[in-house]
Formats: sequence, structure tokens, C-alpha cells
Amino acid sequence: PAVVPVITIDGPTASGKGTIAHRVAQQLGWHTLDSGALYRLTALAVQQQGVDAFDELAVAQVALRLDVGFQGEQVLLSGQDVAALIRQESVGNLASKVAAYAPLRQALLERQRAFRVAPGLVADGRDMGTVVFPDAPLKVFLVADVQARAERRCKQLKEKGFSANLTGLLEDMRARDERDRNRANAPLVAAHDAKTVDSSCLSIDETVKQVLDLWSEACKKV
Ligand code: CDP
Ligand code: CDP
Repeated sequence: PAVVPVITIDGPTASGKGTIAHRVAQQLGWHTLDSGALYRLTALAVQQQGVDAFDELAVAQVALRLDVGFQGEQVLLSGQDVAALIRQESVGNLASKVAAYAPLRQALLERQRAFRVAPGLVADGRDMGTVVFPDAPLKVFLVADVQARAERRCKQLKEKGFSANLTGLLEDMRARDERDRNRANAPLVAAHDAKTVDSSCLSIDETVKQVLDLWSEACKKV
């Protein structure tokens, strides 16, 4: 059987990965994988079950046992919709800490690869192009300057009814970027064959168009 195509979109927090991945997938009629949600779900389950977040093997066990489902806008954890809960900064911060654990990353690997289903997949995260789908025919590294990202995330959180403050978000974001870039396991880095897209001054539509144009180009080469 033909290999199912994957477009990977990796980049720092709030660069627009999830938004762009969804829009691109809609245009192509493909599936999506929000890999960050799996790390966030693990963090939430760790919190809820009172597991010691410093115990790497215990955290990996939580991930192996996760009962998750994605249905439209809903993110289900053991049957409960936690889409809003996992967006909290506290959950994101814990996710970014446990994401450094090798046993956890290993525990989530096959679960992520199982999303590769015809006709295609758009996967977003930190290591989609480098570790999870190294053979993806198009890898995008989506960046934006930290000020733009903090402003976007602030607006997004407020729209969802959470309180947010720009200075605090900027600090959190810098710390998170730093952790994601400098960890030993699957650090945030562009794959050698990735195309970098800077969305600092681009609208969502313009960013989607750039990715779709890159995909058309990639298709011409095969
Ligand atoms: O939305 P945001 O970019 O802030 O985060 P996310 O994509 O939901 O991911 C939450 C955390 O999970 C990140 O800070 C990363 O540390 C981690 N993560 C990862 O290590 N590898 C991935 N493929 C996706 C997320
Ligand atoms: O998934 P990630 O954390 O990278 O970012 P996101 O949650 O998709 O996007 C963060 C916010 O930036 C969302 O509210 C988007 O609407 C907004 N945004 C964007 O994604 N792309 C632009 N070019 C402009 C704004």
C-alpha cells in the first residue's frame, strides 16, 4: 500500500501550530494530530491522580494507561471533555516539564504514529518532523517572535474565559521555550529538511497559504 502522507508543523509555543494545522487539514481533507494535547492530557492525569510528577516511570505509566479520544472540538479523558481544562497555563507548564522525560516520550510514540491514517495527516508539536514522522514529505518549522506569541496567547486565553496577563505570559513562554529547546530528549529544533515559516507578521490565512504552497511544491518533486 502507498505510504500515507504527513505534513509536520513544529515550533515554539503559541506560534500558531494548532490553528494552522487544523486549517491546512481542512483544506486537504486530512486528519490532525495535536501531539501537545497528549502531553497536556498526561500532565492533567498526573495532577488528577496525585502521581509524583518527578517520578519519570510513574508518569510514563500514566501515559500508557491514558484513555483519550478526540471528537471534533472535544478532547476526552476517561470519557470527560477536558478540552478547556488542558489549555490552562498550569497544565501547559507541567506538560512542558514532564515532556523532558525519555520514558514518557517513548510511551507516547506509537500512540502518535497511529494517527497516520489515509488520506493524510497534519501533525503539530515539537518533534513531529525530527522524531515521530522523520519521513514526512513536508516539514514546516513555524516560528513567530515571542512578543507576538505572548499577545496571541493572551487574547486566546481571555476569549476562552481564563484570566491572563501579558508580562506573566511572556516570562512563562520564555521559560517554556528555553526548556523545550535545551532538553536532551527530542529538543525543539528544526529538522534539517524543514522549511521555516515566520508568522510574526502574517495573518492566519496568509500562513495557511504558505504551507499549502509548500505542499504543492513538495508534490511536484515526487
Ligand atoms: O500550545 P503550546 O505550543 O503552548 O503547547 P502544546 O503544543 O500544547 O504542548 C505543551 C507542551 O508539551 C510543550 O511545552 C512541550 O514541552 C510538550 N510537547 C512536546 O514535548 N512534544 C510535542 N510533540 C508536543 C508538545
Ligand atoms: O498551537 P500553538 O500553541 O502553536 O498556537 P495556536 O494555539 O494555534 O495559536 C495561538 C493564537 O495565535 C491563536 O489564537 C491563533 O488564532 C493566533 N494566530 C495564529 O495562529 N496565526 C497567525 N498568523 C496569527 C494569529
